[in-house]
Amino acid sequence: MVGPWEHEEVVTRLGPRSGVPVIVAVHSRRLGPAAGGIRLTQYPTWQDGVADALRLARGMTYKNAVAGLPFGGGKSVIAVPATTPVTPSLRADALADLGELIATFDGSYLAGPDIGTGPDDMVYLRSFARHVFCLPESHGGTGPSSLPTARGVLAAIRAGLTAVFGSPSVSGRRVVVVGMGSVGSLLASALRSAGASVVAADLIESRCAGYETVPVAGVYETEADVLVPAAVGGVVGAGVRAPLVVGPANNQLRSDDAAAALRDAGVVWVPDFVAGAGGVIYTLTREAEGLAPDAAMARVEAIGDTVETVLSKAAANGTTTLEEAVALAEGRLNDATPGRRS
Ligand code: PHE
Repeated sequence: MVGPWEHEEVVTRLGPRSGVPVIVAVHSRRLGPAAGGIRLTQYPTWQDGVADALRLARGMTYKNAVAGLPFGGGKSVIAVPATTPVTPSLRADALADLGELIATFDGSYLAGPDIGTGPDDMVYLRSFARHVFCLPESHGGTGPSSLPTARGVLAAIRAGLTAVFGSPSVSGRRVVVVGMGSVGSLLASALRSAGASVVAADLIESRCAGYETVPVAGVYETEADVLVPAAVGGVVGAGVRAPLVVGPANNQLRSDDAAAALRDAGVVWVPDFVAGAGGVIYTLTREAEGLAPDAAMARVEAIGDTVETVLSKAAANGTTTLEEAVALAEGRLNDATPGRRS
């Protein structure tokens, strides 16, 4: 990644047990300890894993700031080489290696799940590091963050529909969900229950069972009322034909320039770090701040109000939704430590 150094701390370690590189990237602690999930997936090279961690950590700074949480942004990546199969024993060794690294942050980085990890892994990680969140309810945690993440995305979709079509109703809308993992599959079924006509796409076809499906190739250019990116990032750009794009995938845009291209094409894009904050909002307000379930879920639902604000400011100012959401985040960061760059 070329450009000025902007992260506070990035540690990459060759896992002594697994032989796999484990990475913790802390982008910012201006608002509090850095919080963000653990991505366990294969990468062509370890440098690709580091680049992903850097991007994802920055995204968490914005996500947590826009959500009004007293946390900074960080992320972990377990960068399994593309040629190494992810066996259960490799996973366990790599998680142990990462857990030891997380412990060295001594609470200045709070870990949760992300793509490739879940609540059971958090239980295992707790034996290596204290500052791990999102354990199952049976272990005193709040369970999978995918449910509140999906709730927040639904609130964002309704706010987006109101801006584009004048009504929050999903009934009769053709919605394309790309990525039928833990959050995408919850979204697809909730949208269908609410009367939407759901089209699903996933590289693993069996995940789309029961839905009209479209191939992943070209899916971002499919004709639809709403496009919901719910897989990996770097996918949304010029060529999108749905008038509304809103989903939980982190770092959705192919580049920051894509935000202007979408605006110019009349596409309303809800920034991913606004729409996808439900998991971190729910988990951390409950587990780190002690909020009751209803109060935490109300904070998740408030994502709809934030989306409304961002979309109406962009429409009024002729700016992009990305610029407005970043301005909201930067405002919070500057209030915390005036005069410092983020
Ligand atoms: N994976 C979540 C995200 O990208 C991060 C998370 C952190 C979720 C802590 C739950 C708890 O927002």
